[in-house]
Amino acid sequence: MSENYVSSPWFSSSEEAGEISREERMEALRRRVEPCTKCPALAATRTQTVFGVGNIYAELMFVGEAPGADEDRMGEPFVGRAGQLLTKIIETMGFQRSEVYIANVLKCRPDMPPGASGNRKPRPDEMATCLPYLVEQIGIIRPRCLVALGATAMEGLTGTNAPIGSLRGRWHSFRGIPLMATYHPAYILRNPTNSEKRKVWEDMLKVLEQLGRPITEKQRNYFLNR
Ligand code: URA
Repeated sequence: MSENYVSSPWFSSSEEAGEISREERMEALRRRVEPCTKCPALAATRTQTVFGVGNIYAELMFVGEAPGADEDRMGEPFVGRAGQLLTKIIETMGFQRSEVYIANVLKCRPDMPPGASGNRKPRPDEMATCLPYLVEQIGIIRPRCLVALGATAMEGLTGTNAPIGSLRGRWHSFRGIPLMATYHPAYILRNPTNSEKRKVWEDMLKVLEQLGRPITEKQRNYFLNR
């Protein structure tokens, strides 16, 4: 440990002592996730694992449920239609996509029967198996705020089976980190009304307030009275 070691809640002791950087810790984790075969059926059917993307020093981290077909192909979370909407939400909040961190509870695309299209919800046993990787990502980044996108992300993070409608818009906690629940962007793609968009937007305004970010009048009024 170095001489000028000072204890701080913002750094792990090894990071602070300069023994191993945050980048190295994340890279080491990525190298462990990449060849993972803990769920043999998922490992056999995926194109690749989908680790996570963004700023490892982010103050804000979004958590989704699992890669879909586009993410499985590209190796990056939220790059399909739902992902494009998530990117718009992030930008409307005043961030670049690259400023935040985005990851899923599951790092593999849930396998589908041959010939079947669409996605299936991750099973509880798959989420329990994969969750430690997400917990490590959160532990390395230590964001000031987490956003769970949809009921499955909330189930993975907190174990709740409550409907997202009853969870969203309120603060929860994940190991001491404020956790906001909101609808998955895919829900908004299926229900693109201003009233549903406004609900997600109100949840994001709470996140901006929690982070102490400035909020313009224009931002406050999005999706109202239109
Ligand atoms: N939906 C998710 O939950 N995660 C993704 O990465 C893409 C779609």
